[in-house]
Amino acid sequence: MNLSTNSNINKAEAIIRFDGVTKQYESDPAVLKDVSFEIERGKFYTLLGPSGCGKTTILRLIAGFTAPTKGSIYFNGQMINHIPANKRQVNTVFQDYALFPHLNVFENIAFGLRIKKMKQAEIKEKVQEALRFVNLSGYENREITEMSGGQRQRVAIARAIVNRPEIILLDEPLSALDLKLRTEMQVELRELQRRLGITFIFVTHDQEEALAMSDEIFVLSEGRIQQSGTPMDIYDEPINRFVADFIGESNIVDGRMKADYVVEFAGKSFECVDKGLQPNEPIDIVIRPEDLEITRPEDGKMQVRVETQLFRGVHFEIQCADEAGNKWLVHSTRKAEVGETIGLTFDPEAIHVMRFNETEEEFDRRLESYS
Ligand SMILES: Nc1ncnc2c1ncn2[C@@H]1O[C@H](COP(=O)(O)OP(=O)(O)OP(=O)(O)O)[C@@H](O)[C@H]1O
Ligand SMILES: [Mg+2]
Repeated sequence: MNLSTNSNINKAEAIIRFDGVTKQYESDPAVLKDVSFEIERGKFYTLLGPSGCGKTTILRLIAGFTAPTKGSIYFNGQMINHIPANKRQVNTVFQDYALFPHLNVFENIAFGLRIKKMKQAEIKEKVQEALRFVNLSGYENREITEMSGGQRQRVAIARAIVNRPEIILLDEPLSALDLKLRTEMQVELRELQRRLGITFIFVTHDQEEALAMSDEIFVLSEGRIQQSGTPMDIYDEPINRFVADFIGESNIVDGRMKADYVVEFAGKSFECVDKGLQPNEPIDIVIRPEDLEITRPEDGKMQVRVETQLFRGVHFEIQCADEAGNKWLVHSTRKAEVGETIGLTFDPEAIHVMRFNETEEEFDRRLESYS
């Protein structure tokens, strides 16, 4: 037997695959439109997008709480469209935790194991192990009503991991927590996922949370995946206006591709790293605020007038306008004066060129051709 070939096969197999999945509730327009993606085993995935874009619907389809209208869902290579929820190796942590208020911590976590008629000694061992994982050893006999929000959150996670499912789905599990606890739980959850090695699919509409926690992010809008990739891929190379605007702060302006490596915006031509577009093709340009550097007016690639300035602790947030009327947000450790004219400079790599209606495959191929 050829071992290397064998391990390649294992590596390539997706734990979840959506193939052209459409979901439509009654006569309403489709909530998910021909969605295809793959989830690899053991990674932390995040579904990110605004309210109503279909994040929870994707989780419900994976869990088996609802079925696709069209298309197929595969689990370890097997079509599972018609497999009921209780036969799937998937557990869900809901936004409101859905704990049983009349049961104590131990019984909340043991609930699913009791339904499976597991022996008491085994239940005890598993519950205690799950509690250790979420740092709640010793809390077995506490009532749920005597636990804080963060502790309830951990109980809900312990209940999801107790039977070691292959996938855990987490639907905005941190949204009820205050900012400090939320940040702590982000670190804990990420650490827990690494230790367990279980595939996590996490839902949030908070872009910073998605960037901080994920191996892979799917950015969703209006029932479609706009872009998928690592946090750095998506932050550094957004595919379109929606993604650029949704992920981080961006300067997005209209431009034109004059020729290979030359782009025009704000009434001027600039050197860029992009090629292979049509001459004079209209495009969107993105430059991140931290990629703009303040200079003396005569040393800048652009001259802009400072409109507002806010001190944000680490940097100043400076809002400027150029003569063509474009607004430019700058993050700088240098202070400017409101009303003064300053220069802005940036590297050719800081200019991100986005074509209209480019598919993810075309986009990826274009970026690969640059390197
Ligand atoms: N059972 C249902 N029947 C009819 N429409 C539904 C049903 N469930 C969800 N929808 C609709 O599907 C769309 C997507 O809903 P979904 O819950 O997936 O959004 P979401 O991305 O999770 O949003 P949020 O961030 O607000 O939780 C919404 O327009 C919603 O109204
Ligand atoms: Mg939702």
